Amino acid sequence: MVIFGGTGDLAHRKLYPAVYNLFLSGELPENFAVVAVGRRNKTIEEFRNDVEQAIHRFSRPNNGSPAQLDKALSMFYYYRLDIYNADGYSRLGRYLSEVDKVHGTNGNRIFYLAVAPEHFQPIVENLKAAGMVLNDGASWQRLVIEKPFGSDLNSAIMLNEAINRVFGEQHIYRIDHYLGKEMLQNIMAIRFANALFEPLWNNKYIDHVQIISSETVGVENRGAYYEKAGALRDMLQNHMLQLLMLTAMEPPAILDNNSIRDEKVKVLKSLSEMTSEKVLRQVVRGQYGRGQIDGKMVPGYREEKGISPSSDTETFIAMKVEVENFRWGGVPFYLLTGKRLPVKFTEIVIQFVSLPEVLYFKELRGLKPNTLHIRIQPTEGVELYFNTKKPGIRNEIIQVGMDFCQNCDVDAVSPDAYERLLLDVMKGDSTLFTRWDEVEYAWRFVDRIARAWKEEKPIFPNYPASTWGPYEARKLIERDGRRWHVV
Ligand code: BG6
Repeated sequence: MVIFGGTGDLAHRKLYPAVYNLFLSGELPENFAVVAVGRRNKTIEEFRNDVEQAIHRFSRPNNGSPAQLDKALSMFYYYRLDIYNADGYSRLGRYLSEVDKVHGTNGNRIFYLAVAPEHFQPIVENLKAAGMVLNDGASWQRLVIEKPFGSDLNSAIMLNEAINRVFGEQHIYRIDHYLGKEMLQNIMAIRFANALFEPLWNNKYIDHVQIISSETVGVENRGAYYEKAGALRDMLQNHMLQLLMLTAMEPPAILDNNSIRDEKVKVLKSLSEMTSEKVLRQVVRGQYGRGQIDGKMVPGYREEKGISPSSDTETFIAMKVEVENFRWGGVPFYLLTGKRLPVKFTEIVIQFVSLPEVLYFKELRGLKPNTLHIRIQPTEGVELYFNTKKPGIRNEIIQVGMDFCQNCDVDAVSPDAYERLLLDVMKGDSTLFTRWDEVEYAWRFVDRIARAWKEEKPIFPNYPASTWGPYEARKLIERDGRRWHVV
């Protein structure tokens, strides 16, 4: 695995600990090595020392024995390269051949682009020019590419064409790290493996769906990127739409990568068109101002490092989306995501229809609807709320919850998303990666919102840090006679 951006944050926080945990769990292939590519001057020893620190800081609790750590570190190499120096790639190629000899990796390569998006295309073109991408049957070369994949439809098409000149679609693995999360993979199992849910999963029995991914952090040190992205491109275009697709898709004919992704894309194709009027009515954007967290004042978005004091970038979105097909016609999907909200969690809430208020419910009124909560993080699990008779002589009904928590047991630590995703790339399974048409239709949807927003200047900031976003987000759902489950 050749990691461009090998001295960067993603590599240290996520990739090296993931490789190490795969090694500890015995999942890593025998013949495997990591070559980190970076601009800085480093000896292999210095680099291995960095990897060790990264493992200590960011790895899951089980750190293995010193002997295991030494063995794992012996698979890590460092190669200094200016990624814009085309000649350097042939030398890198020769270095990789040397590593092949030590580790028996036979010319098979995963090229992992953990770099800023403007470097994607030049790296890929230089790899091709140096004859490092063959896929000739004797060896394989795969490309793993981090988000953002373009900043709108046009730039994504251009990037895709450039990459396709070097790698075929079957060799491209576009990362959406949400797809590596245990509970996202579980959505299909919960839906399609339960007679209790599957027959009810449609507009006859479901009133509406809420998909919420809230964060407590602000923009952190990513001002330059986030100013251009905002919550729309950073969270909605990818993670939120993935959650929506998995919740709404039809069962695939078979469980292979293309059948699953075919069904997911159909959901995107069924999204109702976001006209400017609809965007005004159904999409709320927000930006956090100053606020208090744990008794301490935190700055507003416009006061953060690298952010323009008059920035119009949104850090919050709430919206109502319609999936216009036979299963979902008439069922709204409400999406909410934002930074500097009071709690960090991701959850899908399925609210079932209300029953007619007859029988003895008539007097009681306010019978609560059944809800199913698919908890993605930090708690992983499922909770189902339903009504029972309150013990006692009066016919009172109360709502109770049944709770399955997958990660409450201390021994049940779920693998990090990157562990699963890296392993799938090694195996050549692209199911949990974004296919080009998913990216394309996601941009089509998001571009319309971005275009409509350009016409209206927002009044920002419009929510204090550590609150649930602007008042309009509440209004959006309350005017339909519903309420956010968390707000
Ligand atoms: C990333 C976004 O893709 O996802 C970040 O760029 C965001 O802005 C992060 O914080 C959220 O991921 P998670 O796994 O913490 O929910």
